[in-house]
Amino acid sequence: MLRVARMYSVLRSLLFALSPEEAHSLAFHAMAPLESSAFLRDRVRRVFPVPESLVISKMGLTFPTPIGLAGGFDKNALRTRALAALGFGFLEVGTVTAEAQEENPPPNMFRLPDDRAIVNRLGFPNDGAKAVAERLKRELGRGVTGVPVGFSIGKSRAVPIESIDAVAQDYLASFRAVREVADFVVVNVSSPNTKNLRALQGPELARTLLLALRREGGERGTHVPLLLKVSPDLTAEALDALLDVVSEVKLDGVVATNTTLSRAGLRSREDLVRFVGEGGLSGPPLHIRALEVVRRSRARLGAGVTIIGVGGIETGAAARAFLAEGADLVQLYTGFVYGGPGTPSRIARELGAIVSV
Ligand SMILES: Cc1cc2nc3c(=O)[nH]c(=O)nc-3n(C[C@H](O)[C@H](O)[C@H](O)COP(=O)(O)O)c2cc1C
Repeated sequence: MLRVARMYSVLRSLLFALSPEEAHSLAFHAMAPLESSAFLRDRVRRVFPVPESLVISKMGLTFPTPIGLAGGFDKNALRTRALAALGFGFLEVGTVTAEAQEENPPPNMFRLPDDRAIVNRLGFPNDGAKAVAERLKRELGRGVTGVPVGFSIGKSRAVPIESIDAVAQDYLASFRAVREVADFVVVNVSSPNTKNLRALQGPELARTLLLALRREGGERGTHVPLLLKVSPDLTAEALDALLDVVSEVKLDGVVATNTTLSRAGLRSREDLVRFVGEGGLSGPPLHIRALEVVRRSRARLGAGVTIIGVGGIETGAAARAFLAEGADLVQLYTGFVYGGPGTPSRIARELGAIVSV
């Protein structure tokens, strides 16, 4: 394990010499053999073991560990088996949209190494919900990945936010496309990189959208579980109002949180932060705020609703902090980029050691 960690620290200095987009694409190519070879995956699982004691059941699904991959890393669901072999207990693929779309003009992804953070303004580049789901169904089918695979769905850029009916139809098209292959579906209304998307967190719009999806998906317990991903930038009152809609509509859960627009408390040099510009910030600077949102969500929603905590997890202790605030499951993205392929297994083993004492 230590050898793998050292190897990654060398590899990371090479990867970090590339632009974040190039490094991501290279990492994806490097995982291709793992995705296609059961033999390799079996070997890799042995190198990156996870403790059996962390198995957990939620929303009618069994998670080998509560540590998942957050939305946005595998946007087109191209590396699900490889990522599961590295030790993730579940995956959230996407965000997909009903219409296939390109990324926002580059550059749109930046590292802030002094904060071990990332700023991105990608804006949901993906092959389209239908194409992604059909390929997954054709090549794998539900269950083959070996861990629960959820789909994040978002709004197509071309659909105007001003017409909530059009917006609901757009999300419904994605929902219908993915529901057959998705173990759960996350409704993304909290990305800062699609113009005005976060207005959908207002209670009136959220109610209309979520009711439409809930009607399509059936009642709690008999359907594909439906969760809502929320922003860390909501005021306490706005978060409470949104959580009340989650309860009213009887969603299965909440994912807290998405990236933040805040740049408070960063260690990175101000001129670098200014140069990077707009976008959602992720990584450790988000951690405390995401914990607060999880705490507030649990207090407001009560037991029975699944909460997935996400924001700045790099260690078992950080994962544990989310569980202590009321999360059932956790996810990471940025910690995986900085920590490398051994990260999910390491965090699971650290968490296993903490919870067994
Ligand atoms: C490059 C990048 C792309 C992202 N894309 C998405 C996305 O498509 N959908 C989504 O729900 N979240 C997306 N996120 C947000 C993550 O899922 C997560 O909520 C956030 O990064 C906080 O977790 P972290 O600190 O572990 O990265 C993205 C994050 C990054 C860094």
